Amino acid sequence: MTTILVTGGTGTLGRLVTERLRAGGHEVRVLSRHSEPYAVDLREDGSGLDTALAGVDTVVHCATTQRGGDERSAANLIVAARRAGVAHLVYISIVGVDRVPLGYYRTKLAVEKLVEESGLGWTVLRATQFHDLVVQVLQALAKAPVVVLPARVPDQPVEVAEVADRLAALAVGAPAGRVPDLGGPEVRTFESLARACLRATGQRRAVVNVPLAGKTYRAFRAGGHLAPEHAVGEGTFEEYLAVRFGGGEGGRRG
Ligand SMILES: NC(=O)c1ccc[n+]([C@@H]2O[C@H](COP(=O)([O-])OP(=O)(O)OC[C@H]3O[C@@H](n4cnc5c(N)ncnc54)[C@H](OP(=O)(O)O)[C@@H]3O)[C@@H](O)[C@H]2O)c1
Repeated sequence: MTTILVTGGTGTLGRLVTERLRAGGHEVRVLSRHSEPYAVDLREDGSGLDTALAGVDTVVHCATTQRGGDERSAANLIVAARRAGVAHLVYISIVGVDRVPLGYYRTKLAVEKLVEESGLGWTVLRATQFHDLVVQVLQALAKAPVVVLPARVPDQPVEVAEVADRLAALAVGAPAGRVPDLGGPEVRTFESLARACLRATGQRRAVVNVPLAGKTYRAFRAGGHLAPEHAVGEGTFEEYLAVRFGGGEGGRRG
């Protein structure tokens, strides 16, 4: 049995990783800003982090804050993990963080570098967008009477349960460095994803594609965030929609 700390273990991915590791018989601690007894803000270098890491063999780092601070969080985590004698640090990143110059992606790339140079045994997995995130974005856009999409942007969403399967397996293995990317089964246009989502939620909206300016848009349009050569995920967007919004049975979640 291994003692494993999952940072962000209450989040979309972290919750599923935690479930899998516990089902495998490991002792799993969940750290987030709000999860007692390991309620720690990673952006602050407090004693709570040392307590959470005492006796831990492996850390799976899933915590993230879209509003910034992930680099500082990772630096604090690494220093404390070294102090605690952690053997293996597993990090989840995103396909294309080195190709798409989005601020959040640049931060993830910087965190990857911190992990690689941490002096700890490390593993980094990059995945494409989770179905959950795509739906979250599309539902926000569908609040307007017309859904305005960035023209000709493809996407390759993946089922988060499959990412959790892979991450949990990596966490109980030996440090493996950068492992092959994990991409969803289909590369689709954003428009086709939006239309599928509108159908599943019974919303009627006009959909308009608008070309944008800038390097980030160009990188997304060129598919910098895709991994077509690693389209190993099996769960499709339609299967996800059917489970989430009805009309389907089973699914790969949980
Ligand atoms: N979503 C995607 O499509 C996607 C794709 C590829 C990779 N990833 C990566 O997968 C990871 C997990 O993403 P997710 O979508 O599952 O995230 P999420 O649902 O937003 O969960 C974030 C988790 O981090 C915790 N957290 C946030 N700030 C924290 C802080 N300062 N200190 C400690 N804990 C903190 C949150 O709990 P509290 O609020 O309680 O702190 C929560 O448990 C991220 O690294 C993300 O970049 C995501």
